[in-house]
Amino acid sequence: MEIRGARVWVTGASSGIGAALARELADRGAVVAVSARSEDKLRAVAGDRMHVVPVDVTDREATVAAGAAVREALGGLDVAVLNAGTWSQFSVEEWDSQEFADHLQINVMGTVHALEAVVPTMLAEGRGRIVGTASVAGYRGMPGSEAYGAGKAALLNLFEALRGSLGPRGIVVQTLAPGFVKTPMTDRNSFPMPFLISAEAAAKAIVAGIEKDKAELVFPFPMMLTMKAARLVPVRAWTAMTATLARRGVTRRRG
Ligand SMILES: NC(=O)c1ccc[n+]([C@@H]2O[C@H](COP(=O)([O-])OP(=O)(O)OC[C@H]3O[C@@H](n4cnc5c(N)ncnc54)[C@H](OP(=O)(O)O)[C@@H]3O)[C@@H](O)[C@H]2O)c1
Repeated sequence: MEIRGARVWVTGASSGIGAALARELADRGAVVAVSARSEDKLRAVAGDRMHVVPVDVTDREATVAAGAAVREALGGLDVAVLNAGTWSQFSVEEWDSQEFADHLQINVMGTVHALEAVVPTMLAEGRGRIVGTASVAGYRGMPGSEAYGAGKAALLNLFEALRGSLGPRGIVVQTLAPGFVKTPMTDRNSFPMPFLISAEAAAKAIVAGIEKDKAELVFPFPMMLTMKAARLVPVRAWTAMTATLARRGVTRRRG
């Protein structure tokens, strides 16, 4: 698809991948609206070249209203990048069901609310594009990633289902599954993050994937190969590998 002139809504755009992507899209001539909770940070990202629509995606009504406000501001909508998300390491020793619920509320229901904000009008128009941010963390279960990974696995399944249901109705659905990207989210991690890339590199990979109509945008390449291979590892072997990593503290908070 043509990026220049495309009207794009990016959620989770106050920092990290979303902010870098919004900048890259604006640099490439797209007309961009950015959303997240932190209005000050959004304004810093937007400067005078993007529309700012603050919203908390856990609020269903507010998110649907934000989608309408974005459409109004941009004069229509071609692409919705549903990227708002959160991550924290889960502790089985200090089991916290609320932390689990918060992950699902932001990462899964926040995305569902944003879908409600864009799908009906895209269906009515018989066109549109949805880029949904999941993660390679949803490919297999990893110790420490119980809350985050479960939600991202749900999103991988959701976007795949939508590709089948919305595709024939003219709406392209693309699944974004990044490996480790250096952002405020991952700056808190103290475990090794193989193949870590910058948010700017991630943004370029995402725009390239949008242009090429890829169903799945998985990057960087070595992480894509690793995690696609990981999906083929038998359950017993995967359990042995992850249990060893967990015992060594590789997947846990250290220091
Ligand atoms: N970094 C990685 O290695 C990596 C890998 C795979 C997938 N991802 C995914 O990529 C996405 C972006 O993550 P990031 O690494 O760029 O982290 P980040 O810098 O922490 O960005 C997260 C974004 O989501 C927004 N957000 C969080 N809760 C929200 C809510 N309730 N309502 C609206 N916006 C909300 C945050 O803004 P406010 O706090 O201002 O609301 C921020 O703009 C997430 O979905 C994440 O799971 C990241």
